[in-house]
Amino acid sequence: MKVFVTGGCGQVGSHVAELLLARGDTVLAIDNFATGRPEHLQAHPNLTFTEGSIADKPLIDQLIGDFKPDVLVHTAASYKDPDDWYSDTLTNAVGGANLIRAAKDNNVGRFVYFQTALCYGVKPMQSPIRLDHIKNQANSSYAISKTVTEDYLTISGLDYVTFRLANVVGPRNVSGPLPIFFQRLSEGKKCFVTTARRDFVFVGDLARTVLSAADGKGHGAYHFSSGTDVAIKELYDAVVAAMQINDYPEPEIRPLGPDDAPSILLDPSRTFADFGALEFTPLAETVKRAVEYYRAFGVHGGYTHLKLDKK
Ligand SMILES: NC(=O)c1ccc[n+]([C@@H]2O[C@H](COP(=O)([O-])OP(=O)(O)OC[C@H]3O[C@@H](n4cnc5c(N)ncnc54)[C@H](O)[C@@H]3O)[C@@H](O)[C@H]2O)c1
Repeated sequence: MKVFVTGGCGQVGSHVAELLLARGDTVLAIDNFATGRPEHLQAHPNLTFTEGSIADKPLIDQLIGDFKPDVLVHTAASYKDPDDWYSDTLTNAVGGANLIRAAKDNNVGRFVYFQTALCYGVKPMQSPIRLDHIKNQANSSYAISKTVTEDYLTISGLDYVTFRLANVVGPRNVSGPLPIFFQRLSEGKKCFVTTARRDFVFVGDLARTVLSAADGKGHGAYHFSSGTDVAIKELYDAVVAAMQINDYPEPEIRPLGPDDAPSILLDPSRTFADFGALEFTPLAETVKRAVEYYRAFGVHGGYTHLKLDKK
């Protein structure tokens, strides 16, 4: 199978590309290194890599027209500066539209996309959040621009799957609390945690499910979620345990801010029904693998796409 992977040097894209290459598929990957890093994607005889942007329409038309992929796995996204509306719309909205249009023009058989749980707003009205929860993306530039591409997919006529994600972590994770905890603990600095709960899922588990989607399973929107949330403090404790440090400052426990959701838990029932019983790697193992990565490659990023998180 020929698969075009956008964001191939990012956390999700590189894990998907690795699995595809390992089973003998041919991969074309693109990345502009906005948040991804070249060392995330090792050279392989069946891999072609292009440094460039999905917002570059002539480039995307040429790449897809020449390669003629069977499947397009679109992981590239812009989110690292909540005030950079220009980059977010260029990558997440224009880039997504370029890919969908080129996929249609070249009869790409499947399109796999990744949406943010922020499409339900910062304070969702349910826990777990069902797939039919009202969309309320007007809380961040990231969520607004990511939703554009999901909306275009629904009118595209393409055979597509969109995985709505909350907290995907593991090696090559550059956003959210995990890299921040590792960095601060490495420097002996105090961290703070809120009483919020989140569902941290291992990127390798998601990548396996993406391959099932690439192979034809499912259609439409799915939550990739274990169905169980943990306290942020539990993630912190897992980082401490994985780093094997005995002497560290106790974290400050802060109450939830006015715009913090107590829990972001996505209802995975449709995913389990269509993709079967998925296996989820335990949090301790997930964090151990992430810590090994940060030790080997250092921490880059620690990005947050929510302006609210910056205070
Ligand atoms: N990781 C999560 O918890 C999470 C949660 C919700 C949604 N998502 C979505 O999942 C997808 C993958 O996320 P990730 O964790 O791998 O993020 P990531 O930052 O590790 O990967 C995104 C990749 O896209 C690349 N990129 C950015 N702009 C580009 C452009 N214009 N052209 C080409 N490449 C570009 C980046 O350099 C990076 O390598 C994204 O679409 C993201 O919106 C992730």
